[in-house]
Amino acid sequence: MQRVRCDATRAWAALDARYSSVGKGFDLRRAFADDTGRVAAFSQEAPHVFADLSKNLIDAETQSLLVELANECGIPAHRDAMFAGEAINNTEQRAVKHWLLRAPRSATQDADAAQVHATLDAMLEFAESIRADDGLTDIVNIGIGGSDLGPQMAVAALESHAIAGKRFHFVSNIDGHELASVLKRLDPERTLFLIASKTFTTLETMTNARSAKRWFEERGGRDTSRHFAALTTNVKAASEFGIATTFGFWDWVGGRYSLWSAIGLPIAIAVGANGFRDLLAGAHAMDEHFRTAPLARNLPVRLGLLDVWYRNFHGFTSRSIAPYHSALRRLPAYLQQLEMESNGKRVDAQGRALGFGTSPVLWGEPGTNGQHAYFQMLHQGSDRVPVEFIATRKPAHDLPLHHELLLSNALAQAQALMQGKTDAGGHRDFPGNRPSTFFLLDALTPASLGALLALYEHRVFTSGSVWGIDSFDQWGVELGKVLATDIAQRLESGDAAGLDPSTAGLIARLR
Ligand code: F6P
Repeated sequence: MQRVRCDATRAWAALDARYSSVGKGFDLRRAFADDTGRVAAFSQEAPHVFADLSKNLIDAETQSLLVELANECGIPAHRDAMFAGEAINNTEQRAVKHWLLRAPRSATQDADAAQVHATLDAMLEFAESIRADDGLTDIVNIGIGGSDLGPQMAVAALESHAIAGKRFHFVSNIDGHELASVLKRLDPERTLFLIASKTFTTLETMTNARSAKRWFEERGGRDTSRHFAALTTNVKAASEFGIATTFGFWDWVGGRYSLWSAIGLPIAIAVGANGFRDLLAGAHAMDEHFRTAPLARNLPVRLGLLDVWYRNFHGFTSRSIAPYHSALRRLPAYLQQLEMESNGKRVDAQGRALGFGTSPVLWGEPGTNGQHAYFQMLHQGSDRVPVEFIATRKPAHDLPLHHELLLSNALAQAQALMQGKTDAGGHRDFPGNRPSTFFLLDALTPASLGALLALYEHRVFTSGSVWGIDSFDQWGVELGKVLATDIAQRLESGDAAGLDPSTAGLIARLR
């Protein structure tokens, strides 16, 4: 579909002017003092997620210009094209239909719905059989990128909902230290290996999978059909590898959007078929919100537009994720792939250079740990970094004092960033006026996690769509893969002909 260049719109020019007149000098403390309705205007209830956006450097006029920008850029039509199954991943000519993986049978006419549900039912039945099998105690997921980060993050996030008596291990790195340290804790007779790879060609995953299979066979393991399963779109390659139990998915599921597919099998084993269906239902509720809510009251759209405002007008280059829930410890890593692999592009969908910045750097650690490490920079450093707090009203433990103190800290940090403190002078001064968003879930459950993740997916869709880029390809990972193959041969042979002197020197030292 024809996309409009965001920087050529009227709204973009108006936002530019707005930034100069109001945005640059915007003061949160004054904004709260001037407008008693600010919290109501800038907070929003969406399925399973409440968001307080009021501590952001934005006012009503800017927000309406951003909505105009979304309209001028054709965001609603682009969103509808995704939900209609059009090939919006235009550099690969693929549809983008991770939303279909979580749509109830009755909610869609899509031609692929029948195979989605047949695979889901089979995979959940398999997950239940593994849960019931006390002979299998260790589940090892071998995959990388989207075939690792999503399941790893979600299994940790839902640990309080997980079955007792099963241990989950995630091996992603080609660094043999990782596989070796997991294998030494395993008994082949009690282990199920899940080989997770959309393409079933990824170097890291295939190397780890081969080594795991060799380890299994060398220890007398024979029954690969009981101890190995593959999660892939490349069923043929999985069977050539010697795996009989395969759960498939489709090329219209991007790797970083695949935890809802067969790639989610570790999650399904952890939380059971009902838990996995709840995860899908939570995400579907957010899909419906994104698909139907007016732009000005559409939470993923508002967040995506805020990201554009910060990146392109305020010039902020990073955003910090602060989950105040230790089970969300892998969320920042997962979001790094989601946002930076999707929107880390410098050309538009037609391949034309962009004259403005795109994906910010995402980073973070669970609170309160981050407070004792890098929050110093957030409060007093020379750069302003928007912070995203994620907290739950109810904990999954019975240590109420801990939860009260955890929440107090999250609120206090957001307050300190915004208010600052300028009466002490010098080193003790805090400039304040530092933006943050506060997400509140009632509790961390499969459904609320599903909704939270879908919220982030659609937010990334929104900013990528404004920027006019293809958020669903990842050509930037290719060059390094090709060079690594060449260098592997040179490390073996010592041939440095034609190499740059630095690489040649390092190869010589490594041999
Ligand atoms: O590194 C790029 C990438 O293609 C990611 O997008 C993907 O999630 C990861 O590699 C793993 O790919 P696969 O699932 O095909 O092994």
